Amino acid sequence: MLLITGGLGYIGSHFTVVALQAGYEVVVLDNLSNSHAGVKDKVEQITQKKLHFIEGDIRDEGLLDGIFKRYAIEVVVHFAGLKAVAESVAQPILYYDNNVSGSLNLLKAMQNNKVNKIIFSSSATVYGEPKYLPYDEQHPTNPINPYGYTKLHVEHVLHDVCASDEAFAAITLRYFNPIGAHPSGLIGENPKDIPNNLMPYLIKVANTELPYLQVFGDDYDTRDGTGERDYINVMDLVEGHLAAIEYLANTGFHVFNLGTGKGTTVLELVSAFEAANDIVIEKKIKPRREGDLAKFWAKADLAKKELNWEAKTSLLESCQLVQQL
Ligand code: NAD
Ligand code: UD1
Repeated sequence: MLLITGGLGYIGSHFTVVALQAGYEVVVLDNLSNSHAGVKDKVEQITQKKLHFIEGDIRDEGLLDGIFKRYAIEVVVHFAGLKAVAESVAQPILYYDNNVSGSLNLLKAMQNNKVNKIIFSSSATVYGEPKYLPYDEQHPTNPINPYGYTKLHVEHVLHDVCASDEAFAAITLRYFNPIGAHPSGLIGENPKDIPNNLMPYLIKVANTELPYLQVFGDDYDTRDGTGERDYINVMDLVEGHLAAIEYLANTGFHVFNLGTGKGTTVLELVSAFEAANDIVIEKKIKPRREGDLAKFWAKADLAKKELNWEAKTSLLESCQLVQQL
């Protein structure tokens, strides 16, 4: 049985679908700070399977202990976290509390209940200013904002827990830029506020909820001057987690990049989105966004070698509007 924290969020809900379809029993813990209770029904509708949902917070020690006592959890897949970079700069304590204290709390409850397998959602943001590209897992880590530091802190804790307990297995997955949605259109990325990230913003422009896309900078050292990223389809990404669960048979601490290995600029993504949906996106060039890196993408070979996983979905397919949220 799996405990999926943050399992009603964007990536967590897609993972919950594939986990149920793969035959796992699932307990989802989510405080709904950035998701909607209705996602549970959507996941059950897609899979025709039931999940156990607990509305609550990973910082609630008593609640977590109760979950581990009540359910025979073998593996924790830990998505719960706050992820807005600008908000983390404005409210660092909130971010350290939610992401770091919350994860410590989860690990304490796991230890108290003899659960010793965890998969953690980390981010390419831990690498910081590229010393070389593509980033491989050995690239130095040097986050440039509090959000990135919260991810790196948790990685260090997991490393140290594994060093202290030879039966413990922890896998850190460093995601590049997840995009797209389940083909049913029933779940997807549905942020509660105006999106910070490019793809959900583009979707809102396409739906005429927002008037135009702001392109943050066209003077970077890239093919067309706009920022370059590695956009990975969310279904591919969550398949990588299923492979990682198998890999937890290997004890110790492991890190894998989950990306496509290919960079795409903002203007290339807009063109793919326009072609995929036969629409025109209004856009305006704006100054660079503070704290943005010019370009980065993944070296994805390690996940291929060790997890036997690689991204398969084309960019055009990932851009197809399926969401009916
Ligand atoms: P999301 O906000 O859609 O999902 C996170 C979920 O966790 C939400 O449902 C939220 O309600 C829940 N949550 C947050 N704090 C909680 C707490 N204290 N207790 C219980 N539930 C809590 O975000 P996502 O895009 O699905 O990201 C999932 C994970 O992946 C996060 O840890 C994020 O940092 C990481 N990540 C995301 C991206 C990305 O671009 N989406 C990239 C790299 C890493
Ligand atoms: C952002 C976070 C990063 C986090 C990642 C996934 C920042 C500075 N970085 O990464 O830490 O891990 O999200 O959650 O927020 N862009 C536009 N217009 C927009 C939005 C984005 O032009 O309205 C551009 C950006 O300048 C960038 C690219 O699109 O070049 C991708 O941006 P975004 O989707 O926010 O992801 P990252 O910046 O890679």
